[in-house]
Amino acid sequence: MDKNFLNDFPILHSRMNGHPIAYLDNSATTQKPESVVRSICGYYGGCNANPHRGVYELSVKATKVYENARIKVAKFLNAKPQEIIFTKNATESLNLVAYSYGLNNLRGGDEILITIAEHHSNLVPWQRVAKATGATLNYIYLAADGNLSAEEIDKKLTRRTKILAVTQISNVLGIVNDVKTLAAKAHEVGAIIVVDGAQSVPHIPVDVQDLDADFLAFSGHKMLSPMGIGVLYGKKKILDAMPPFLSGGDMIEYVEEQETTFAELPQKFEAGTQNVGGAAGLTAAIDYVQSVGFDTIERIEHDLTTYAIAELKKIPYVELYGCDVENKIGIVTFNVKDVHPHDVATILDAEGVAIRAGHHCAQPLMKYLGQNSTCRASFYFYNTRRDIERLIEAVQKVRSVMRLN
Ligand code: ALA
Repeated sequence: MDKNFLNDFPILHSRMNGHPIAYLDNSATTQKPESVVRSICGYYGGCNANPHRGVYELSVKATKVYENARIKVAKFLNAKPQEIIFTKNATESLNLVAYSYGLNNLRGGDEILITIAEHHSNLVPWQRVAKATGATLNYIYLAADGNLSAEEIDKKLTRRTKILAVTQISNVLGIVNDVKTLAAKAHEVGAIIVVDGAQSVPHIPVDVQDLDADFLAFSGHKMLSPMGIGVLYGKKKILDAMPPFLSGGDMIEYVEEQETTFAELPQKFEAGTQNVGGAAGLTAAIDYVQSVGFDTIERIEHDLTTYAIAELKKIPYVELYGCDVENKIGIVTFNVKDVHPHDVATILDAEGVAIRAGHHCAQPLMKYLGQNSTCRASFYFYNTRRDIERLIEAVQKVRSVMRLN
């Protein structure tokens, strides 16, 4: 019997439009347990000061909070602490790689390979880098079931490919890509692999050494943490050779009038005052996730996903996307025939069910699927079968509210 997680998430006891809330927008952001909220309050109430700059006790305490968070994240991903760069979110992490690595290592004739299922944050920066360097941006398209096409990978990953940038789990389809195999294939042709872990790190165990990822990005807020704290993992050797991304305080060694030498890793990539409160929250979030355990998280999400798909399939006017695969977790994307996804989401909202509708920051994928937008229900371990029943009951009302039957 699983622990009743709801007791740790007071917000999940609140009401939305007069109904108990069924929060099914976890791919956008997760709710925060009380332990995380307490850790943020504890930091600001007990040891707030600017880290790395003061010799006084409070600043030393803030530095410890911040650097302990780095150690925690490093252990969580099986990396070294210097390989963990704190950012604002996965988007900033991916931009850091694009501009600091991509701009400095690509030239005309080189190729960047991404998948058509990327979030804009692992797509738009590469478009800009391609334009700036003269490199070409190529896409791996999908097989009929939504998985990456093996033929596409073999055809498009060549000696010209210098960067393969791929999401580990699609934020629209929930399909889990075999990043370990992709990393091996990328390395075989001399490319590096950049992994968008925004939707994977909170849901499945991620070991950067086992994957042999060169870079991996994730956002704290999709894993119980506050907004505004994100992570970039990078292999030390690669990070060492890269120039800084942002410049300013705390990332320097010496500054002369015309020249600057830069700090060692990881400070080289952390200009300006950092989000120590966010790092404190991320530490507590990792503790919470580890106390639940990924076996439990995956089991619960698998059960909810399978149940939701089975029930939605029974509704004749619901169309599902990427739901006939085994390697899928936590995300169900669908449309209700003849009803705009925003109308669906508004009707569900009136029933207390929170989902996301729109293009999910993945417009090329939408176009590829032949849709302008979709509805997306996304789960975390604190969701229950009752939440799924509420989703189904609300979806069943949509067409009659729209006077379509
Ligand atoms: N990246 C987030 C999502 O997929 C915002 O909803």
